[in-house]
Amino acid sequence: MPDTRHSSGLGGPTHVAIIMDGNGRWAQARGRPRLFGHHAGAKRVREIVEACGVLDVKYITIFAFSTENWKRTQVEVSGLMSLFRRYIRKETRALTNQGVRVRFIGDRVRLDRPLINLMDTLEKETEFNAGVNLTIALNYGGRDEVARATQRLAEDVASGKLDPASIDEETLPRYLDTRVLPDPDLVIRTSGEARISNFLLWQSAYAEYEFVDTLWPDFTASEFARLCQKYGQRDRRFGTVKA
Ligand code: IPE
Ligand code: IPE
Ligand code: MG
Repeated sequence: MPDTRHSSGLGGPTHVAIIMDGNGRWAQARGRPRLFGHHAGAKRVREIVEACGVLDVKYITIFAFSTENWKRTQVEVSGLMSLFRRYIRKETRALTNQGVRVRFIGDRVRLDRPLINLMDTLEKETEFNAGVNLTIALNYGGRDEVARATQRLAEDVASGKLDPASIDEETLPRYLDTRVLPDPDLVIRTSGEARISNFLLWQSAYAEYEFVDTLWPDFTASEFARLCQKYGQRDRRFGTVKA
């Protein structure tokens, strides 16, 4: 088992993004309702965020609810929304004590008012924390994010604030929800699925990927540390050839 304390070598990832998948199957395997799996999954987050502090991972972004997840049953969707409210209420103190700065990405428009208020408060309360940057993607979809960013960009063109001829690869990221975050270095997906399901499409253009079979509620700090170590051994060429 890798020891999380000895793996923050040079070249570890600065930003890790995680597609936390497999809660439903984890519950199903135990003959329990899917929401049981979501509750177990939410409990895993604290340990992974703590491990980031030890591993010198400065940014962690977790996929909690996608723009496509509204297609699930009303019972599951409303159960998840109440889990998010509960999670924020319950974790605020621990996150503050750990110096974690929390941000949310995704479209808030479809979320309920009490949840939006809790999200706003948590962001405000942790605004000056200088520890790990935890970003929670809630009602997030990469294509939706690019569409919303394009809308704002087009407004700036229409009002004369932005010259269309000046638009380059650096322009769009300034309109994305992630504008203050660096691009992810490593994207992890649990549960054996090898797809990205609309997560951080623009930002992950050059990320390294790890797809692991572990279901999210079974994912540990030790497995996380192993993946961060493995990342450190990869050769990221960004299109170049080594001299
Ligand atoms: C991921 O677990 C959590 C959310 C998408 C909210 P799933 O609920 O997708 O679990 P599986 O994939 O059905 O096992
Ligand atoms: C991706 O998982 C979204 C989250 C982890 C929140 P899904 O389980 O919704 O993705 P698909 O449906 O398998 O692509
Ligand atoms: Mg899934």
